[in-house]
Amino acid sequence: MPPAHGTVVLREFVDADVAVGLDLSTDPYVPLVSTLPPHATEDRAREWVEQNRARWPTGKGFSFAIADAGSGQGLGQIGLWLDELPHGRASAGYFVAPAARGRGRAADALTAATAFAWTIPGLARVQLHIEPWNTASVRTAERAGYQREGLLRRYMEIGGRRRDMLLFAALRPG
Ligand SMILES: CC(C)(COP(=O)(O)OP(=O)(O)OC[C@H]1O[C@@H](n2cnc3c(N)ncnc32)[C@H](O)[C@@H]1OP(=O)(O)O)[C@@H](O)C(=O)NCCC(=O)NCCS
Repeated sequence: MPPAHGTVVLREFVDADVAVGLDLSTDPYVPLVSTLPPHATEDRAREWVEQNRARWPTGKGFSFAIADAGSGQGLGQIGLWLDELPHGRASAGYFVAPAARGRGRAADALTAATAFAWTIPGLARVQLHIEPWNTASVRTAERAGYQREGLLRRYMEIGGRRRDMLLFAALRPG
């Protein structure tokens, strides 16, 4: 069974998800924190789909397409990254295409990805790094059961500027 929650299912990327890449690339923030360029061409969006597919066999983590549970239509992308698995930590990041926002899809996707994370042996926590202005992402994290742990000052460079990041985490139940 693929990971699922509420109205979404997480699945591997398919060719039709080029449309998701095209829509996501119109968001001002997404190109700063992903491999999509602003206002991607169809070729660049196709490359993005291929990159997401290629991450599966690398062991670096999972890049899922967020899809509507009924129609299977792509709505966004969510990654569960496992570079720090030897230390019991994973990190997650998510994007919902502008046309699909405002319906709690991101929280459903994060809930599904987090439940999936606990099927990976040795994982104690899943972390999110969120810029303080990003209220929609903070609400997504809270709705998926994540707790705010602190503010990491000038934590990373995004768009040519060091940015503060809120650290949120979910802990393995039990
Ligand atoms: C963050 C994101 C994934 C949320 O996706 P979504 O499925 O549309 O989420 P929703 O529209 O249900 O919004 C989640 C919550 O934020 C609230 N929200 C949305 N936009 C908001 C805004 N501009 N200001 C304040 N609150 C906002 C919603 O009301 C909702 O709150 P609720 O839980 O109290 O109902 C999506 O906006 C996105 O892809 N943004 C660009 C990429 C990004 O920032 N990713 C996260 C990186 S950490």
